[in-house]
Amino acid sequence: MAKVLVATEKPFAKEAVDGIRKIVEAAGFELALLEKYTSNDDFLKAVADVDGLIVRSDKVTREVVEAAKNLKVVVRAGAGYDNLDLAACTEKGIVAMNTPGQNSNAVAELAFGMMLYIARNSFQPGTGAELKGKKIGIHAYGNVGRCVATIAKGFGMEVYAFDPFVTAEAMAAEGVKVCSTVEELYATCNYVSLHIPANDKTKNSINFDLLSKMPKGGVLVNTARKEVIHEADMVKMMTERPDFKYVSDIEPAIAAELKEKFGNRVFFTPKKMGAETAEANVNAGLAAARQVVGLIKNGDKTFQVNK
Ligand code: 3PG
Repeated sequence: MAKVLVATEKPFAKEAVDGIRKIVEAAGFELALLEKYTSNDDFLKAVADVDGLIVRSDKVTREVVEAAKNLKVVVRAGAGYDNLDLAACTEKGIVAMNTPGQNSNAVAELAFGMMLYIARNSFQPGTGAELKGKKIGIHAYGNVGRCVATIAKGFGMEVYAFDPFVTAEAMAAEGVKVCSTVEELYATCNYVSLHIPANDKTKNSINFDLLSKMPKGGVLVNTARKEVIHEADMVKMMTERPDFKYVSDIEPAIAAELKEKFGNRVFFTPKKMGAETAEANVNAGLAAARQVVGLIKNGDKTFQVNK
């Protein structure tokens, strides 16, 4: 009997786990759970005999892949798969997948939660500003970027986007103003919302050159990955531009320094929580379970990311 492990340091909501169990057991497979684990050794032990693995941001390193002797498929229940060692998976013939789009709305809503918070003086007494009429720049128009565009239109914002992988026609067809360079996006928009993945090209790419193009009072909203920010440049930007603000779902390594130096011009969630809604957990978790079953039973490789 095939065995599927859900290994989540940050567990799914109970209803998502119940739904995953139903799908896995209906396929005639066994489900194992490793939640809130605090040691990598526990993860290594738990993967030893599994055929399928479902994770969130859990790091599936080469060591994990090598410990998982029977593993055929690993699904990252979510969008960003920078936590999977794809080369190691490929070498072992393991199919790696994500579940694109399943948690996008939750992430987009959090971006607006943080934007409102920073626009309204961190919910402290005093005069804030409205989002209506402001320009928002969507840096990468994927599933989350599109949700952000929809919500931004509801707020009465002017929506701009830059994405070299999406055609200008496709973006324009959705009522989005297209920037032909990333520099133009930053120079145009009061808010820039990041939706780029973390990879060799994007790591440290959000630097002083780019940020300093933002108009007075600019706000950077990061629900993507902390690795895409050039942290020394962020300190420089905050220092040289006292009008600039930074909100992020992912606490940077220099969070304490930024909070101490720049007070309420920065805001960080204590733990990554963009996808922390019951709806997103159910959508992504159940999709992951279906994909694991689909691969093991039928060899269905839809959403494979290590082609
Ligand atoms: C994603 O890439 O899907 C999000 O960053 C969500 O990550 P999480 O599952 O760790 O909350």
